[in-house]
Amino acid sequence: MSDPIRVLVTGSAGQIAYSLVYSIAKGDVFGKDQPVILTLLDIPSMLLVLEGIIMELQDCALPLLKEVVRTDKEAIAFKDLDVAILVGSMPRKESLEWKNLLRANVNIFRSQGAALNKYAKKTVKVLVVGSPANTNCLIAAKSAPSIPKENFSCLTRLDHNRTASQVAMRLGVSSGNVKNIIIWGNHSSTQYPDVHHAKVTVSGTEMGVFDAVKDDDWLKGDLISTVQQRGGAVIKARKLSSAMSAAKAICDHMRDIWFGTPEGHFISMGVYSNGNPYDIPDDLIYSFPVVIKNKSWKIVDGLEINDFSRGKMDATAAELVEERDMAVLFLRV
Ligand code: NAD
Ligand code: LMR
Repeated sequence: MSDPIRVLVTGSAGQIAYSLVYSIAKGDVFGKDQPVILTLLDIPSMLLVLEGIIMELQDCALPLLKEVVRTDKEAIAFKDLDVAILVGSMPRKESLEWKNLLRANVNIFRSQGAALNKYAKKTVKVLVVGSPANTNCLIAAKSAPSIPKENFSCLTRLDHNRTASQVAMRLGVSSGNVKNIIIWGNHSSTQYPDVHHAKVTVSGTEMGVFDAVKDDDWLKGDLISTVQQRGGAVIKARKLSSAMSAAKAICDHMRDIWFGTPEGHFISMGVYSNGNPYDIPDDLIYSFPVVIKNKSWKIVDGLEINDFSRGKMDATAAELVEERDMAVLFLRV
């Protein structure tokens, strides 16, 4: 057995974390030989809830779980981290204007970025989930100048998984038969789920998704809007946002960072855009197709982009530029 790694989950009294911490503690993310010290950070009023979660984790009798720490203090939470999964953020409320929501989140992620900078290992891998995930991730990265920007990513794997599943259901195949979906841009309703480069295996033969589905209108219409609106549809039905599927996507994302992507597969994640090969503006956290090896990601280069895709990639980039510019203004005050 190797030495334990230190993993932080913020917002750990919330609903995503309730599924996520169990999967991490039982070895689904970092492997069945990797002991874990789990730190749970939430706001002071949630400390009692965290106590209940710790009792439950103890009652699961999980051999890989060496220790669980609960805290509302960043200096404790961020100390010597190997992995930080930033789930907690200021929730959307009807009464809260978008600008004020962004301002509240800039303050949270500036503070957590500074804590990463001060306390975490320089090799820490940081995954931002709390909405707006791309811009929160950018703010955290900017606030942690001593940690490489490449160590930061944000979650668009849920959108990626949603797209794969919709295609698989349409064709009556397993979602495991679909690969190389791309989510471009923001984790918001401007995101662009792109299947032009995706492949599906039907009756033992691998083919392009456009050739297999044979319905361009659906692939360029309803599929895209279904995925773009899926978060809202879940909230409408459940009265709560996606939690089980978000936790599963976080596990998929972090497992791929830890162990790499399989040969011939790429996945989607929000990463730093500087120097990207698709003419997306610099200084954004933008979701791209990536492959991962030795815990480092690389944007998949050379994919052909048609006019339809270009327009959608640029539209979601424009939204991210607007979010960033406003967030950066808040950083200065
Ligand atoms: P939740 O409201 O159940 O839990 C959020 C938790 O964060 C709460 O316990 C809250 O007290 C805590 N929190 C708030 N501010 C904090 C701070 N400064 N430090 C530490 N903890 C803090 O929410 P949830 O359903 O678990 O979702 C969490 C976030 O993830 C939301 O922002 C949601 O919109 C987002 N989300 C993102 C995706 C994605 O794909 N990127 C998918 C689903 C949900
Ligand atoms: C999701 O995609 O399910 C969430 O981001 C929705 C939300 O607003 O929390």
